[in-house]
Amino acid sequence: MRRRDTAADQTVVLYTSQQMAEQVGLSVDTIRRMDKRGEFKPSHATPGGQRRYTEDDVMRFLETRRRATGGNRCRAISFINVKGGVGKTTLCITLAGALAQKGYHVLVVDVDPQANATQGLGLDPYDLPQTMAQVMLPEGERDKIPLADVIRPLPDLHPHLFLAPGHLDLARADQLLTLHRVQRELVLDEALRSVINDYDFIFIDSPPTLSNLLSNAMCASDGIIIPIDAQYALRGVEMLDQERRICDKVSPHAVTLLGAVLNKQMLATNLHTSVRRETQLLFDGNVFETIIPYRTEVEKSPGYRPVVFGARAVAEPYYALAAELLRRLAGASDPVSSSSLPEADTYMTRS
Ligand SMILES: Nc1ncnc2c1ncn2[C@@H]1O[C@H](COP(=O)(O)OP(=O)(O)O)[C@@H](O)[C@H]1O
Ligand SMILES: [Mg+2]
Repeated sequence: MRRRDTAADQTVVLYTSQQMAEQVGLSVDTIRRMDKRGEFKPSHATPGGQRRYTEDDVMRFLETRRRATGGNRCRAISFINVKGGVGKTTLCITLAGALAQKGYHVLVVDVDPQANATQGLGLDPYDLPQTMAQVMLPEGERDKIPLADVIRPLPDLHPHLFLAPGHLDLARADQLLTLHRVQRELVLDEALRSVINDYDFIFIDSPPTLSNLLSNAMCASDGIIIPIDAQYALRGVEMLDQERRICDKVSPHAVTLLGAVLNKQMLATNLHTSVRRETQLLFDGNVFETIIPYRTEVEKSPGYRPVVFGARAVAEPYYALAAELLRRLAGASDPVSSSSLPEADTYMTRS
């Protein structure tokens, strides 16, 4: 209950967590999680340990959020391709790391049963009792749990980086979703809603097969990025655009193609040049300018640390891509998202 504490010469309005949540337009769970993570502490507590917030706390909170997000809402972005080995996972975790370094709060959601993003961020998925495998279960399944229960901070990598880990059992969730006909593509979208105010970006790493998990990744996304292996032809990519158009209709929000990213570019060869040309044609020019070069350091990088936290020469193209992504989002037609993304640092803009 709202309560007035009257000291000798001042009156302090104290809000409960629920009232604080209403004041700042977030869910009470979000407020509690931020408190638990030490991101925002109230200035009062009752003798029983219950949190109480003052008007000053409310103002301080709103200012902190405004500065952290540049006034923008969270964007969910998935990395999609029906071909494996093109760099979905690598781009997902390195871009997440690069944006965390730039001050954004980023959640990586791993919905690939191979759980490579989870391993790439330093966790052993088989050691974890609760993962996205239970979050992605259809509504009504006994083991289903909320997304917030599986999210882990990654303090060894970056204080702004968080992970909802994957697990091989996601394959079972996928099968169960097939049987569950009602809104089976929207399980992830629904799950993200409860945490969307905690992050500036949610990056979704997806499996390489057309599946319920992939449809869920797409439908939950505001934008998708399609990594293309510059060493291979583009077979299968057309399928993705059809799938995206379907998801755009099914999803409660627009699902925009943010662009294709050419990855693993070696010294220019005829094959590379033709893949590049084909990609431009196929995506109607919607291809990121930043090209990610092939680097043995990336191929051999230890499974637990994205290369953006390592040597500058290897990290640079990913920072350039992150800066280009921010520019693309700032230029998007959506009036909310185009408002005021902070200026990107000047990294290399082209490899
Ligand atoms: N720019 C790059 N240069 C060299 N190797 C890369 C590069 N990007 C990714 N790789 C390697 O290619 C393999 C497949 O990448 P990955 O991100 O797992 O692809 P996907 O998620 O699409 O299956 C991994 O061994 C990864 O280390
Ligand atoms: Mg992968």
